[in-house]
Amino acid sequence: MADKPNIYSPEIWNDPHPFYSTLRREAPVSQVEPGGMWAVTRYEDVLYILKNPQLFSSEGFRPAVQPAWLEQGNPVANSLLMMDPPTHTRLRALITRTFSAPGVSRLESYIRDSAESIVADMLARRRVDFMETMALTLPSRAMSALLGLDASLAPRFRSWADAVTEVGVISPEDTQKRAELVAGLDDMRHHLNGVLELRRREPGNDVVTDLLQARAQGGVMSDDELLGFLVLLLVAGLETTYNLLGLCALMVADNPDIWARLKKDRTLVPKFVEEVLRFHSPSQSTIRTTTQETELGGVRLPKGATVMVQFVSANRDESVYANAHHFDMERTGVPSLAFGQGIHFCVGAPLARLEVRLAMEALLARCDRLVREPGPVKWNVAITTRGPAVLPVELIPA
Ligand code: HEM
Repeated sequence: MADKPNIYSPEIWNDPHPFYSTLRREAPVSQVEPGGMWAVTRYEDVLYILKNPQLFSSEGFRPAVQPAWLEQGNPVANSLLMMDPPTHTRLRALITRTFSAPGVSRLESYIRDSAESIVADMLARRRVDFMETMALTLPSRAMSALLGLDASLAPRFRSWADAVTEVGVISPEDTQKRAELVAGLDDMRHHLNGVLELRRREPGNDVVTDLLQARAQGGVMSDDELLGFLVLLLVAGLETTYNLLGLCALMVADNPDIWARLKKDRTLVPKFVEEVLRFHSPSQSTIRTTTQETELGGVRLPKGATVMVQFVSANRDESVYANAHHFDMERTGVPSLAFGQGIHFCVGAPLARLEVRLAMEALLARCDRLVREPGPVKWNVAITTRGPAVLPVELIPA
């Protein structure tokens, strides 16, 4: 194994599975670049970290999104994703109800209508970039509805989300990119503060109003925490679902047999989505920091070590999943860690599953098949998410 491989290098990022199989076998807890982080690759060790937040703190995520050159800071650094109990427990309690399966089912008919109209539009154009159309538009609309944001702002969400997630991975010498990302963060801060102002004056039926009311009723939350919350919801709700939608489309375009099975039996769609989540892990990893010297997988980690929890690897662990590298939508047994586990388990999982199921159902109803432009997939590079950067497809009408 090469010394400290860079996990964002094209050789690994474009096809990470052979690399992680080797790590699981030979060095399941080992240092990688950037930053000499400790990559944890076996399912068992990943689960141990997620279940022991007192040993593995989420606050270690902050430096990864807030590099020294970013003077204004990154609002997502003040969000619950990057907090430990008791602050995390207090803030998470404020949104649990809104994001439960019954909570998000209120959005079902809106999301179904949106998915159907996006497919109709794609069919009218016939050849489209799936990422630019369905993958971006559906989660943007869902998040506008959920957060009570003006739908006309949706086209900006992408650049906001990119700004939040890319600041940690760009080269500090790239001054042009730095300026672009800073402008994106400023624009996002400006608009979200505007939404907070508006909802203070005119309460609505949305998450922003819920949060402001929780604060008014003593649910202690600072202005920074409030803004961090909105930014996290927006970014977490957009970026990951965007990637998952793209990965689902890639899977059916490249595997006509899977498409045919889904067309014949639509009740298989939720199982298909779960297997895409396991197989591809759109949320590749998360970050923790050790709060004390700790042993993991036979390796002694010093206090303050940055640990990269690799869902992408745990979800293909051969000791947990039979034929781990085979796509099997009828798989039963251990659920994947695609949405994490433990106290930070994804609050948006019911919403993400709903969006992707409705998008697939709309495509299956209206299309005979999806044909992908031949050639290798160009993958996007972001700190923890992975999916196709572009996905040119032709939609053949049913
Ligand atoms: C395919 C879609 C999605 C995937 C794969 C995904 C994945 C994840 C994962 C792995 C975590 C845990 C991170 C950790 O332990 O550090 C997480 C947390 C979170 N997700 Fe998602 N997510 C998705 C969609 C969404 C959506 C649609 C929303 C919101 C509308 C959302 C909101 C959140 C929030 C707020 C957290 C932080 C929870 C906490 O810290 O307690 N996610 N997500």
